[in-house]
Amino acid sequence: MTEKNTETKKTTPEQVEEDRALDLALRPKGWDEYIGQKKAKQNVQIMIKAAEKRGESCPDHMLFHGNSGLGKTTLAYLIAKEMNAGIRITSGPAIKKSGELAAILTNLSEGDVLFIDEIHRLNKVCEEMAYPVLEEFNLNLMVGNGPMARTVDLNIPRFTLIGATTQLALLSGPLRNRFGATFRLKPYSKEEIEKIIRRSAEILGVKIDEESIKDIAERSRFTPRVANRLLKRVRDFAEVEGDGTINPKITKKTFDSLNIDEKGLESGDINILTTIMEKFDGGPAGIKAIAAAANENKDTILEIYEPYLVQIGFIKRTSRGRIATEKAYNHLEK
Ligand code: ADE
Repeated sequence: MTEKNTETKKTTPEQVEEDRALDLALRPKGWDEYIGQKKAKQNVQIMIKAAEKRGESCPDHMLFHGNSGLGKTTLAYLIAKEMNAGIRITSGPAIKKSGELAAILTNLSEGDVLFIDEIHRLNKVCEEMAYPVLEEFNLNLMVGNGPMARTVDLNIPRFTLIGATTQLALLSGPLRNRFGATFRLKPYSKEEIEKIIRRSAEILGVKIDEESIKDIAERSRFTPRVANRLLKRVRDFAEVEGDGTINPKITKKTFDSLNIDEKGLESGDINILTTIMEKFDGGPAGIKAIAAAANENKDTILEIYEPYLVQIGFIKRTSRGRIATEKAYNHLEK
């Protein structure tokens, strides 16, 4: 397998190097280690096997959608591994010009996986340039300008595009239709998250009891990425303030210190909720107005905060805007 991982992914400033290394260590290395998402996993495996059986160099393009942190990138790595293929990783906002997309496409090898995260943010020009590539592996390039401009047709090696999005509705119909299969990744169950935490603790070599596993799972927002991040923070506390073993006392101390409540809400989530409650009398309020009043980016609210707040029934989306529910009031009053 040729690992051609062009890391063009955006990383958050607080994601320190050590965390990144640990994230890699915690990522499942094979299907047998991958917990949850049974349906998507089964269907993907069938697509790969069928393509292999037919002697095709790679399966059809695949689209994954679901909330942030559900493991879309992890799946892309596993798919490439199963296909014994190289993988290139990029994201919609990272590809600013059509020339950049052309460079990525012309550098692919037969049978590769191209992973485009946040594909709904790919600009229109790039998207349209991608249509014939996805369908016929044919890239129509415009070279030169003015009267000298002409188009050149390039054959691109067959590859599998794996697109990932948190906002399926923002994907245009023509782009969506070019994927051979679309899979929705579901929030993980509590039991699945507990299993992931157990596995991660083992890899990190940290001792943890069942109550602490449950405590961390409770606050994980049902996503493996958050569960693993919380586990690493609790481990920090266990190492500095204890003997390195994770127990309920250390776990509680970590969450108190980091201001993470029993539902896994952090200051950013609380800010959105209290903005709706205090500045809009509980709503309904439009997303742009909430963003301005909360001093937050609209897309961050839509992609990071809101999905979970809606999932746990703290925010209701109505045609007239967002409403903070009674459940949210009860929770914050506690
Ligand atoms: N780490 C991130 N996602 C995971 C998953 N689905 N199974 C196991 N470990 C994971």
